[in-house]
Amino acid sequence: MALQIQLASTDASSAVCDALIVSVCQGSVASHPTVVALDKALGGALLEHIKAVEFEAKLDQVLDLPTLGRLKAKKLVLLGLGKAPELDSARLRASLAACVRANSGSTIRTLHLVLPEAEVELRAVGEGVALGAYRFSKYFTGDRKPKSELGKALIHLARGNASAADKKQLDLGVAVADAVAIARDAVNEPPNVMTPEGLAEVARGIARKHKLKVKVLDKKGILAAGMNLHYAVGQGSENEPRFIHVSYVPKKKHKKIVFVGKGITFDSGGLCIKPAAGMGEMKSDMGGAAAVLGMIAAVATVRPDVEVHAIVAAAENMPDAAAYRPADIFTSLDGKTVEIINTDAEGRLVLADALTYATRLKPDIIIDAATLTGAALVALGKTCSAFYSTEDELARSLERAARTAGEQFWRMPLLEELGEQLKSDVADLKHTADRWGGSISAALFLREFVGKFPWIHCDVAGPVLADRAKGMYPKGGTGHPVLTFLNFVEQAGRPSK
Ligand code: BES
Ligand code: MN
Ligand code: ZN
Repeated sequence: MALQIQLASTDASSAVCDALIVSVCQGSVASHPTVVALDKALGGALLEHIKAVEFEAKLDQVLDLPTLGRLKAKKLVLLGLGKAPELDSARLRASLAACVRANSGSTIRTLHLVLPEAEVELRAVGEGVALGAYRFSKYFTGDRKPKSELGKALIHLARGNASAADKKQLDLGVAVADAVAIARDAVNEPPNVMTPEGLAEVARGIARKHKLKVKVLDKKGILAAGMNLHYAVGQGSENEPRFIHVSYVPKKKHKKIVFVGKGITFDSGGLCIKPAAGMGEMKSDMGGAAAVLGMIAAVATVRPDVEVHAIVAAAENMPDAAAYRPADIFTSLDGKTVEIINTDAEGRLVLADALTYATRLKPDIIIDAATLTGAALVALGKTCSAFYSTEDELARSLERAARTAGEQFWRMPLLEELGEQLKSDVADLKHTADRWGGSISAALFLREFVGKFPWIHCDVAGPVLADRAKGMYPKGGTGHPVLTFLNFVEQAGRPSK
């Protein structure tokens, strides 16, 4: 059963539920109406305990109390949200998600959440609660299958009743979180299921639900279109490549933005095969594609005045008698010849053709997302994406969008001198340079295919897959950077700023 998240109109302190979460800001714990009511019901024991254990409601500070039959809720959780003036939507979303994640195990079926007295955006609340309740448990059977799951989350304002506008915002937040879950699910699915055709099915599902246009090219179609680089990467796999294009075209539009995602559903490295240790993580090499698809689902929900396209270059990189090899030369969609150096640098090849396709849509902005290089991970760690931009103004917009989303991005330089290494002796371009500055030279290779169009490249190699849960991200597929991209589009739809 899907989780229902609704506004409550009843009294929180007497709610019958498995967990009652009361979120409070620092300095106003004792004056929060629900805390006051609960303290009264407990004969003054609550505030006494809060004092005794020095619960101050610092950000993410949690006080977890069994109620032992003295309240109608089976347990009471006080969640600290820090100082009210510092509580922005990003902090609220992350903090609520982490708390809901910790309190939605199999023993918790109904949960009530009381919001702080400080003003909060109901959309961020809906996002946080739904993102926190996310689980990927479809492959468990028998004892490993969760016996029950969180079915209902009821949200209470600190004071007074919620308005129709509050309800609308909460529902919107939940719908946005559902779109993020599309990206998480796609990354979490195993590579024998999430094949290039599997990604096409995800795209078709989104298009069907939101009445968007979708176009899918199969292996033959990719070859016929002249996307020889994309074709080459896919030629060593039984799971044939797909080129996917979903479009959202509203009546009123201030801008046209084309997103491009790397959709390598498994990256074995091809003939330049990767070592066995950690190879399984390369199921997440379609994280960029997953994000771009999740983004367009979110955009179709929010319906901003911006034309948005989601393009995915999907292929599986495998060693095989038919696989492409180092020293091969192929002609890209825009006519440049490319000498293959290392078959493990497959991402930039599929992206090159997809970026050329993107330029043909004559967009105002092109943004790509790709788990492109291990070097980006080395530079910025597992939780921050590297990004590159041909324009400072665009870079600032992306930074603003990421801040609102609570996602980490750091701008990197397009160092011209590293580009010299991309000259080939036998073709127009070599497709890799040496190890040093590997994320930068990959970006410079991509830049060859975007023409004069304003462009942002996001190397999301680290953050699409998490090795532990933190804030709004669960362990596994995180959904990074769906929210950043959604914010970016929404900003572009409000051109008055
Ligand atoms: N998909 C990988 C990059 C990657 C590595 C993503 C680790 C996430 C975690 C990419 O296709 C790749 O193999 N890149 C090579 C490029 C090299 C051969 C020039 C790399 O980074 O080592
Ligand atoms: Mn690779
Ligand atoms: Zn790859």
